[in-house]
Amino acid sequence: MTSSSTPRADIQLPAAVHDRLIERLKSNSLELPVLPEVASQVVTLSNDPNADTRRLAQLIQRDQAMAGHLMRMANSPFYSPKIPLVSLDQVVSRMGMKRIREIALIISCQSKVFKVPGYEALVKSHFRHSLAAAAFAQEIARSRRWNVEEAFLCGLLHDVGWPVLLQELVDLYKSCDVAFELPVAEAVISALHTRIGSDLVKHWSLPARLGEAILYHHDPLSSTIASQTAMMTNLADDLAHLTVPLLDNPRAVNEDSVRAHPMLQHLNMYPDEMDALLAMREHITQMIEAVA
Ligand SMILES: [Fe+2]
Ligand SMILES: [Fe+2]
Repeated sequence: MTSSSTPRADIQLPAAVHDRLIERLKSNSLELPVLPEVASQVVTLSNDPNADTRRLAQLIQRDQAMAGHLMRMANSPFYSPKIPLVSLDQVVSRMGMKRIREIALIISCQSKVFKVPGYEALVKSHFRHSLAAAAFAQEIARSRRWNVEEAFLCGLLHDVGWPVLLQELVDLYKSCDVAFELPVAEAVISALHTRIGSDLVKHWSLPARLGEAILYHHDPLSSTIASQTAMMTNLADDLAHLTVPLLDNPRAVNEDSVRAHPMLQHLNMYPDEMDALLAMREHITQMIEAVA
């Protein structure tokens, strides 16, 4: 487990920014990004057990930018199809509803959420970190025979509150006419990103278990309804830190600390399974390089 969810007592927000932030949190009026229309409909469709994939293809066809992105992503090393997928129908029928939802969320996160003007490189490093966590969570789930699509989304979205809060704080500082201080903002984001990320996935109509895993990814033993998923996300988070260090605040993780990770015992994972995960680092890095 990590300590990055603990706010630092020695740095504080300016009083005016603090008061406005607290007011927004209390009244639930923080500005949460909306999903692009098509991505939102893809999520709705994926929640419908009777939905068919033809309907999905028609839906995506309506947004040419999304369709183009989806084709590129489906053919990227991230999904490495055995043969090139040349039409949207082919992508949809090969990949299925859950994978298309996943790609729509990757695209939405990359193009809408992990975008904070003025902090592009920093936010991009957080997006790459999230992709790495998604890839590792998926592999952990595969080894446990758990739901791999759900695991992927846990990793992808575990820190989605981070860019949302950064944007919010940049705006609040501006509205209070105070010079922005990144280290102060980051301490606040560390403390709040789990809650905001969890709120956001509910707002996007994603499964409640996902929100729970995000809420507890820094404190998985406290989760009552999705503790295993939260534990998996916690481990995937550290593997992602080891593989794709953040620009601003690299976490002190090394191979030894990951091999002795407190979650291994709870997840019933053996040393050879950790070896297999660590052996994937280079491949995962290459996959991320290809898309972000
Ligand atoms: Fe986090
Ligand atoms: Fe993280």
